[in-house]
Amino acid sequence: MKAVQFADYGGPEVLRPVEVPEPHAGPGQIRVAVRAAGVNPMDWKVRSGAMRQMMPLTLPAIPGSDVAGVVDEVGAGVTGVEVGDEVFGFATADGYAEYAVLEHFVAKPPTMSWEEAAGVPVVAETAVRSLDLLGVREGHVLLVNGASGGVGLTAAQLARARGATVLGTSSPANHDFLRGLGVIPTSYGAGLVERVRKLAPDGVDAALDTAGKGAIPDLIAITGTPERVLTISDPDAPGHGVRMTTGAEGRSYQALAEVARLFERGEFDLPVARTFDLEQAAEAQEISQGGHVRGKLVLRVA
Ligand SMILES: NC(=O)c1ccc[n+]([C@@H]2O[C@H](COP(=O)([O-])OP(=O)(O)OC[C@H]3O[C@@H](n4cnc5c(N)ncnc54)[C@H](OP(=O)(O)O)[C@@H]3O)[C@@H](O)[C@H]2O)c1
Repeated sequence: MKAVQFADYGGPEVLRPVEVPEPHAGPGQIRVAVRAAGVNPMDWKVRSGAMRQMMPLTLPAIPGSDVAGVVDEVGAGVTGVEVGDEVFGFATADGYAEYAVLEHFVAKPPTMSWEEAAGVPVVAETAVRSLDLLGVREGHVLLVNGASGGVGLTAAQLARARGATVLGTSSPANHDFLRGLGVIPTSYGAGLVERVRKLAPDGVDAALDTAGKGAIPDLIAITGTPERVLTISDPDAPGHGVRMTTGAEGRSYQALAEVARLFERGEFDLPVARTFDLEQAAEAQEISQGGHVRGKLVLRVA
């Protein structure tokens, strides 16, 4: 099958289109013919070698974990899904490929495009895990620092669906877009504490940092305590008494069904910022690394 692989850690240029043997579904797994594969910042972080202590890989490796496609093998013990079903979910490994093996997946809503579906898994799981760890519920005021990226947009919309009021930081160019999703926008950077106090004079119950760009002291000042702050990407946060979630503490796979339900009700929109052919994975990862994608980058596989 066609895939994109890296044989050494390094820059985007180490990604190469290759032909490799197809994987097959084992017990508890399905295989899909991949139609689209999502690109996440984790993909370039792993490829660069920056994660090699935490996630040692056997090279060569195929990046990617988010896929949407058509089921073509159903392994022993898997029920409720048939060959020909359209699904999206987590590839056990090797997402940038023509075929992928999945253990956690849901039916793709018929009105959700392949590209939209391929953008959902990692950001949905991360957003639900984060909102649950923060205990976000109806009536809360949540600040999402980095609200226009994949995790931020997802967390903001899921929090709104729970009945929370959501403030979100982004570049000024994304403020109208956030407003359209019911999020109260403001800019990140110097003066954040004062801007948020004006927008939420009665206080902020919880803050989720997706950006990992040094805002933790401000988020503690805004919520009043490190316990009400959570980061997904700032390794310095624990030094401030703030928890960083990695997923090692458990995954929120129910997020896939939650997002599919909201999408069908017209209450969830994760825009696909740009699509690429599978062979253009290096370009997609380079843009992801630039850190200013609104929504998702997606590879078209078939
Ligand atoms: N721990 C976990 O379980 C976990 C899971 C998933 C992802 N992550 C990590 O979380 C991070 C975000 O992931 P993602 O998929 O949401 O990334 P993404 O889609 O690439 O989002 C990037 C967003 O960051 C915003 N941004 C850039 N600089 C910022 C700053 N200084 N302050 C606030 N926002 C800023 C950008 O907004 P503008 O364009 O508006 O500037 C952009 O929308 C990545 O580092 C990723 O590796 C961790």
